[in-house]
This record gives sequence, structure tokens and C-alpha cells, in this order.
Amino acid sequence: RILILDFGSQYTQLIARRVREAGVYCEIRPWDATAESLIDFAPQGVILSGGPESVHFDAAPRVTDVVLGMAVPVLGICYGMQALAQQLGGRVEPSSHKEFGYAEVRARGHSRLLTDIDDRVNAEGHGLLDVWMSHGDHVAELPAGFKVIASTPSAPIAGIGDDERGIYGLQFHPEVTHTSQGQRVLERFVRDICGCSGQWTAGNIIDDLITRVRDTVGDEHVLLGLSGGVDSSVVAALLHKAIGDQLTCVFVDNGLLRLNEGNEVMQTFAQHMGIRVIRVDAESRFLDALAGEADPEAKRKIIGRTFIEVFDEQASQIDNVQWLAQGTIYPDVIESAGANTGKAHVIKSHHNVGGLPEHMKLKLLEPLRELFKDEVRRIGLELGLPAEMINRHPFPGPGLGVRILGEVHKPYADLLRQADAIFIEALRAEGWYEKTSQAFAVFLPVKSVGVTGDGRRYEYVIALRAVETVDFMTARWAHLPHTFLDQVSRRIINEIDGISRVVYDISGKPPATIEWE
Ligand code: XMP
Repeated sequence: RILILDFGSQYTQLIARRVREAGVYCEIRPWDATAESLIDFAPQGVILSGGPESVHFDAAPRVTDVVLGMAVPVLGICYGMQALAQQLGGRVEPSSHKEFGYAEVRARGHSRLLTDIDDRVNAEGHGLLDVWMSHGDHVAELPAGFKVIASTPSAPIAGIGDDERGIYGLQFHPEVTHTSQGQRVLERFVRDICGCSGQWTAGNIIDDLITRVRDTVGDEHVLLGLSGGVDSSVVAALLHKAIGDQLTCVFVDNGLLRLNEGNEVMQTFAQHMGIRVIRVDAESRFLDALAGEADPEAKRKIIGRTFIEVFDEQASQIDNVQWLAQGTIYPDVIESAGANTGKAHVIKSHHNVGGLPEHMKLKLLEPLRELFKDEVRRIGLELGLPAEMINRHPFPGPGLGVRILGEVHKPYADLLRQADAIFIEALRAEGWYEKTSQAFAVFLPVKSVGVTGDGRRYEYVIALRAVETVDFMTARWAHLPHTFLDQVSRRIINEIDGISRVVYDISGKPPATIEWE
């Protein structure tokens, strides 16, 4: 296992994902984590992330002596390298020539870290690597025992190494995909230099999680709110495999789901996998609660609150439950500062469980809290969940409630479900579903005039939304082909009584958001 010390880089999570991709388990800790927590973790190697600081600041983060005293290999990236170099007796200087973005690095001499890893070889036999560089400071003088293992014209010391102690520093970022050999460099470090075995694979993760769940839960009973989304679905499949009938799932159909969604969830989990799922039909309860409300935030609150009420009522009818399972994943833990403050058990409050009845006093079970989304997907597939479910676009908790603008009415939801299903079916058929990150239809409660045959129509409008994004914080509207949009528009207007016009949303985020409400 590898320890990643976070010095505040925006890429720290990426380092962790790359190490896991190399089949090696790792965890992120803040640079000032307590000595005990680092010693307890007993890493076989340590990676120091980059960071926004300069080692010259008075309060600049330091590499803790605990790490340097562990006698395990260390790799410092960017700031991590500068901090290492300075603390081990080298010298770091501000650069007159700051370097950000693409650079060609020349590997120098023999080093266990970089030898035989290159994109090209130059006439003198040096390996050349295409890398992503970002630095303001640079190492100007080597610490004792180190040699230069990489350089660029503007940063003569772009990589340092001490093969004997297994301590390395790289000024460039091996964790980003712009560094084309980056994965190989990280693999070389964690597998060959640290000696980690690469057994962090989907099958082994599942075996390990199952053992831990069984040890934790014993013969007690577990309750899970199943939404049909990826995380809760994978938790359901995993817990079922681990503890079988000790698991009960509650699936709340709030009437704001996509076409056939409730039936599909029941088919997959109850019929196909034999999991005990209680389906609660709460459509009219949600629609009654929403009646007359047009404000987006108020609608979200009503839906969240009603969900809690319904879930609580069901939960308190199930006897003998001691645990509440949740689909918390590692990015949630990191974002809620659990991993950044050393307080390992800060839990992101989840609207699904905010108000569980006091008397239930359930213990929290979060089997996925160490996994990244791509790992969750992989173990989901390995557990036998359909690929179609695992690779689904995200769907917001309030569902169609935020895709029907203004007041929510059942006839609107029915029209929207049909339009959305046509759009998604066409995206899948034409290979666009995988190429977009999120796509859906929106119901606009305004009427517009249309004409079909001899008849005049005066009906509602559907907007289509499709975006490409990596992190959902920014997004670009998907440039779907006009012929494709034409075909979807015709189908929606011809097949759905009540829709006379279709428009396509060409707003990016920012300034627009992905959802319309
Ligand atoms: P926006 O509209 O803010 O959406 O650009 C970004 C991502 O978040 C999803 N989203 C939500 N998910 N509850 C959720 O669980 C919500 O209230 C909510 N609002 C937006 C949205 O679908 C998109 O993926």
C-alpha cells in the first residue's frame, strides 16, 4: 500500500486513481497528518503531491520527518520534489523562466525510475518524454547523494534520484494524461521500486470488502435505500453477496422517475438477483406535496423532505435492523474533508438519511468509502450488474421534479417520460449515449402553435439537453448532428400527443447549469 501526502495540489486525487489503476491500494493523507496515523498505515512507499506553495514561504508545508524516517521509497512530485530537495540539503530557487504546460524532458543517465521509459530516443541515446510541467520554483542545487535524472532546457534539474535510498523527485506531473508515459512512471515506482504486488483488482477488492462486511455486521441486519443509481446499486449487489437475506432494500417510487425505471429496478434486484426489495409507491404523496409549488429550491426541499418521511416510515416497520448502508464513495470522503483534516470519520450528510427516527439509532455501513467511481463501476460489473445500469448517465435526486419547469403535474411527468425515453433510445441506437456525459429532455409548460395534416395544434414544448463534461462543474453542450436531432424531434412530435415543438439547448455551463432548475 502506498501513502499519498497531499500538499494541496488539484491533482492529488488523480495520483491516487493512477496508483489504483496500477493495481496498488493507496490512501491520501494531509501533509500534516499525525505521526501515529502515518505509522499505523504502514506504507510500502510514499508519494508527495504537488502544491500551490513555494518552499520559501515561512509557513510552507514540510515533508514530515516520520516519512523520511520510514526507510521506504519516496517520490516527490513538483512541490513534493522541491520540499524534499530543500529539506535534504539542496537548494531551491524562484525561476526567472516559469514553465506551465507541455515540455519535452530528457532522461539523463541511468535511474531506476526512468530508465527505458520514453516516447522517443534522441541521437545521443537519451530518452525523451512528453510531459506536463508546472512550476515557479526549481531545484538549483542537488542534495547530497542525488543525481539529475531528467532535464529540460529551462529546468536543468527536472528530476532527481537517489537509487540507493529509493528517493526521487520529478518536476513534471506523471499523474496527468498529458504526460504520455506517466502511468508507466508511477507503475515503475509503486510496483518495481516499492515492491507493491498489484493485487488491487476488481475480484480481490470484492473478496476483501465481503470479508470486512461480514466481520463488521456479524449476524445483524442492514437497511439500504436503493435509488437505482450506480453507487447504491453496487452497495446492494455487494451486501447481498456478503450477507444475503440480512439485507433489506427500500426503493421509493416518487413518481418522478424515468419511463419504466421502477420496474427495471425491481426486475434487476428483486427478480434477477433475489435481493429483498420493498417497493414503496409514493407517487401521489410526492405530487400532493408538490402541488402549487413553482420555485425550484422549494421543490427540491419538498422532494427531499418527503423522501425522508417515506423512507423513515418504511424503516421503522422493519424489525431488528441495526445498520444503515450508504453508497458513500472516496471522493465524497475527500470532499467532506475527511481525508484532508485527518478526521477520518467525518461523513457527508446524505439527504436520504438526514432524519432517521431517533429510536432506530442505526450504525452506518459504508462499504465503498475507499473506492473511486471507476472502481465502483468495475466491481459492479464483476458483481453481475448489467453494464447498461453501471454506465448510466447521472440522474438527480429530485428526478423529473427539476426537469418539469415550475409546477409539477402528473400529465406533465407522463409527457416528459415519453419524450425522454425517445431521446435516450435514439442516443443509444446511434452511439451517442456513451459520447455524452448526461442527456435528457425537459418539459416546458408553455404552449406553442403547430400544424399536423389539416389540423392546428396548440401544445407543449420539449427541450433536449445533452452535455459533455468530466467533472460536471463545467460542461459544453454536445454538438449532436442535425440529422440526428431532426429524427428525434420528428419522433417526439409525431408519437406524443401533447407536444407540438422540440428545441435544443445550446447553453454551456457556465453560464447555464446542466439542469434547467
Ligand atoms: P447543475 O444543474 O448544477 O448539475 O449543472 C450538475 C450535476 O448535478 C446534478 N444535480 C443534482 N443531483 N440532486 C442531485 O442528486 C440535485 O438536487 C441536483 N441538481 C443537479 C445534475 O443532474 C448534474 O449531473
